[in-house]
Amino acid sequence: MSEDKKIIFSGVQPSGIPSLGNYIGAFKNWLLLQNDYNCLYSIVDMHAITVRQEPAALRKKARDLLTLYLALGLDPEKNIIYYQSHVSAHAELAWILNCFTYMGELNRMTQFKEKSQKHSENINAGLFTYPVLMAADILLYQTDLVPVGEDQRQHLEIARDIALRFNNIYGEVFKIPEAYIPKTGAKIMGLQNPSKKMSKSESDSDNNVIYILDEPDKIAAKIKRSVTDSDNRVIYSPDKPGISNLLNIYCALTAKSIEQAEDEFASKGYGDFKAAVAEVVIEELKPVHQRFKELSADKAYIDEVIKKGAEKANYLSQKTLRKVQKKVGFPAKL
Ligand code: TRP
Repeated sequence: MSEDKKIIFSGVQPSGIPSLGNYIGAFKNWLLLQNDYNCLYSIVDMHAITVRQEPAALRKKARDLLTLYLALGLDPEKNIIYYQSHVSAHAELAWILNCFTYMGELNRMTQFKEKSQKHSENINAGLFTYPVLMAADILLYQTDLVPVGEDQRQHLEIARDIALRFNNIYGEVFKIPEAYIPKTGAKIMGLQNPSKKMSKSESDSDNNVIYILDEPDKIAAKIKRSVTDSDNRVIYSPDKPGISNLLNIYCALTAKSIEQAEDEFASKGYGDFKAAVAEVVIEELKPVHQRFKELSADKAYIDEVIKKGAEKANYLSQKTLRKVQKKVGFPAKL
């Protein structure tokens, strides 16, 4: 990693193939960052087990996600792509930070409240201290910037609070991370419920979400069935959330402006418009599908990326971890 570049860290849970919303809102942007920043992308399997997982399925989802990153075009030489569970410093730092985090702070986390309602049969301590592990992820690498959506804002905020608290006691140990707001990237909403973000975990139905690896005919069918309104005019407007969302998708992938797209479809109806949106999405994802297929078949290469990623992340994380251990009074290893 070159010293003069800022560090970006992001974690994604291995909870299945991500959506077109993730693609437009996050991954497309990650590709633009890889030359100008030192980026770490962790597949956060330790976070994933805060809810029950089927072991074999979790392993597969993690590997598929890592393979997908590569298929999208993230270069494993430029970015550090790794499994969180392969770097034990995450757990070690999380423990220490637990001792600098207050129950009251964690009690205020809205995601904890939501998740404890959803998983009322399993409100475990890991779910409660989830934000502390996330703080450890970020702080271990002296991260400058964290690309976060609205739903993770509060977690980034607590990571900053913990870091500041620690630094106040022990001196400048942690870099205080900031949110990274991408220059482009519209927020993509659900196809069936365009008032809510297109989300893999909260999909009302399968038709609500396009997954990055959906087959072309499936993509076309989902877009065709997407909720619109009855006036048949392709116009961007708050009272046309379905059409506005499709316009956002179309423009994000064609680099056209909303006005250009409105002009293009001024004399056309929803049928033509939806077919055009589907076409653009399918073409965009085609090379990703192709590379995913090729890479999935190359076990040795993927294994190598996994191994190298873990090595690099381990090396970097040890620097911060050792410093922290010393500060809190752990004896030097002999
Ligand atoms: N909590 C994040 C999510 O569910 C995932 C995550 C874990 C993360 N550690 C992180 C995101 C560090 C950014 C930085 O989306």
